[in-house]
Amino acid sequence: MAGRRSGPGGCAATLGAMNDHVTAGGPGEGPPLRADIDLAALRANVRALRRRLTGGAALMAVVKADGYGHGMVPCAVAARRAGARWLGTATPWEALALRAAGDTGPVLCWLWTPDGPWREAVAADVDVSVSGRWALDLAVAAARAAGRPARVQLKADTGLGRNGAPPADWPALVAAARAAEAAGDVRVTGVWSHLACADEPGHPSIAPQLAAFAEAVAAAEAAGLTPEVRHLANSPGTLTLPEAHYDLVRTGVSVYGLSPSAEVGTPEDFGLRPVMTLRAPLAQVKRVPGGHGVSYGHHYTTPGPTTLALVGAGYADGVPRHASGSGPVLVAGKWRTVAGRVAMDQFVVDLGGDVAEVGDEAVLFGPGDGGEPTAEDWARAVGTIGYEIVTRIGPRVPRVYHGVEPDPREPVD
Ligand SMILES: Cc1ncc(COP(=O)(O)O)c(C=O)c1O
Repeated sequence: MAGRRSGPGGCAATLGAMNDHVTAGGPGEGPPLRADIDLAALRANVRALRRRLTGGAALMAVVKADGYGHGMVPCAVAARRAGARWLGTATPWEALALRAAGDTGPVLCWLWTPDGPWREAVAADVDVSVSGRWALDLAVAAARAAGRPARVQLKADTGLGRNGAPPADWPALVAAARAAEAAGDVRVTGVWSHLACADEPGHPSIAPQLAAFAEAVAAAEAAGLTPEVRHLANSPGTLTLPEAHYDLVRTGVSVYGLSPSAEVGTPEDFGLRPVMTLRAPLAQVKRVPGGHGVSYGHHYTTPGPTTLALVGAGYADGVPRHASGSGPVLVAGKWRTVAGRVAMDQFVVDLGGDVAEVGDEAVLFGPGDGGEPTAEDWARAVGTIGYEIVTRIGPRVPRVYHGVEPDPREPVD
């Protein structure tokens, strides 16, 4: 596989061990509430994204935040198998967890504080993002302690106003990095930045950010830096701005089959398929009279005699409490709405005149082609983004992996 330096054996072994604990099971055997993770869909998403890349750009699968809630290591293994040359994390601890799972390919992590751990990251051959002089100094010290040059990627703030060196500090940071490189303490492997509003195509901040990035790259190169990768695009940049692809794109949400925003398009527009399905068997079904209050605070009262079904998923599992009275759920072939408040571990749906049995399945969200709502539907219902819906699914919810081993008919990367 071109460009892949990972040790699939190591990661695959971890994955195998994980799957020993998490199996799909038959009716009544599986966990009560579970997130099914379709790794074949994830691999297909990576391939679909790679087909869009221009100028030979490579793909970084962003696997921070436990793979956006999908499970970091299994998703990292699947993404590498589908040709993701890089992995991206926020914290160094996430990057080190990838190494502990056996991944040996290029990994960038970008959220640093003086506490690091800098030396461990440098020793583990993780690319460290540097947004200021203090961070460069710590990378140099870590390199000396680890006995090897630090792989450093310089981050420019081209307008996001979050992380990254502001334009006024850029020339000095670049010069200091060049000097550290000449001294053998660092290798500047990348120059990069992050877009603020790419999920709103045509936003007036986009063109100035593209121009500011081109300037930052030119200044770095003029100072003698020869970065392996220059990169700017997240998922919306990848999907809508070919001119932002440079050498590498950093795709997160699209790898998991979600669109960054309705304005960018639907997942299907880009050949993407949501990877996570959240489902639970009904824990109780009962007839109640009209006028019956439902769940804490009695914010829902049955309009007439009806059937209530109980779903064992609550805000402790990541179901937003904001979904009280609005979250969509597929039960007995129809979309229902969460009736009353979402509690810590459970919520109720009103089945009206319909019939269901304890153990029947409730699907909160999935790819949508089985008639179930999607994570985007939940995002709309609760006033957030699909990113948050999947990422917030909690550690109590087992992830059940499907398609771990590629189908023999899958393309080989
Ligand atoms: C620096 C950086 N790059 C890339 C990404 C991936 O963004 P997306 O999920 O929109 O692809 C993120 C995610 O927030 C990020 O923080």
